Amino acid sequence: MSAVDFRDEISLLKQKRNAVILAHVYQSGEVQDIADFTGDSLDLSRKASDVDADVIVFCGVQFMAETAYLLNPNKTVLLPDKQAGCGLADMMGIDNLRSLKSQFPDAAIVSYVNSSAAIKAESDVCCTSANAVNVVNSLVQDRVIFVPDKNLGTYVAEQTKKNIILSDSYCYVHENITVNQLRKIKDTYPESEILVHPECIGPVRHFADFTGSTAQMSKHVAQSPAREFIIGTEINFGYHLKKDFPDKIFYPVSAICLGMKRITLESIKWALEHMEHKIMLDDSISGRARNSVEKMLRI
Ligand code: 13P
Ligand code: SF4
Repeated sequence: MSAVDFRDEISLLKQKRNAVILAHVYQSGEVQDIADFTGDSLDLSRKASDVDADVIVFCGVQFMAETAYLLNPNKTVLLPDKQAGCGLADMMGIDNLRSLKSQFPDAAIVSYVNSSAAIKAESDVCCTSANAVNVVNSLVQDRVIFVPDKNLGTYVAEQTKKNIILSDSYCYVHENITVNQLRKIKDTYPESEILVHPECIGPVRHFADFTGSTAQMSKHVAQSPAREFIIGTEINFGYHLKKDFPDKIFYPVSAICLGMKRITLESIKWALEHMEHKIMLDDSISGRARNSVEKMLRI
């Protein structure tokens, strides 16, 4: 079946199911193109609560679809491929968090949304890379356990006066971006600005001109007088930026999130045909996890 046929079928199935397609900005170009809404994880969480549809097809990774479900327990949330996981979320187990909790019982617990529902359930509040600094600053406690991403946690620690306790989890996609990679591109395009995600390692962030979440990078591009940008995050974010800013030039590093790439036009069509894979969470976890996400949205 050709891409055009898949698009036609998906459009018919969407009407039949009264479905909406949300896609993260790390999705492939063809998936971003058929989505009703594309955005970063914070935008998508908010959008999931606003949409007037019975079914949400979530083109992203497991934790993102779970967040959409937590905010919409009465809607059906479908993740088109069960294997679409986040390496960072999968790296941190609940025992790991409990051990930190027992070592630092006075600390508040902030979990990056890139975590399992079980981790969210044992947290005081969630955050995304776009609001992590604000969330941590809003807490009364001086000591904060920040999980799971140690690189985002280090970035937050640099921006606040709080005493931040980290785990040793990281995102392999961003951890593998190096200063050398960025320097090579910069040598070829010396006029370009370097933008990186806060999941990158410290030396990469310090080498860059700007560090921010994907939405913050978009805002920066909109305001910057520069015309060329080196993009230090998942490669497909370059596609998203090019659509929004056709007059600017982007040089994305070659960083690929394998979980994101599990979602294809074929899997979206399959998901709508079979109404699979439905996100479901245990009641004992979902109520507490929802509280942490909703608390973040209020901040
Ligand atoms: P955003 O919060 O910028 O969407 O990033 C999510 C993510 O998975 C980063 O690796
Ligand atoms: Fe997870 Fe990293 Fe992929 Fe983001 S890029 S979804 S943190 S594995």
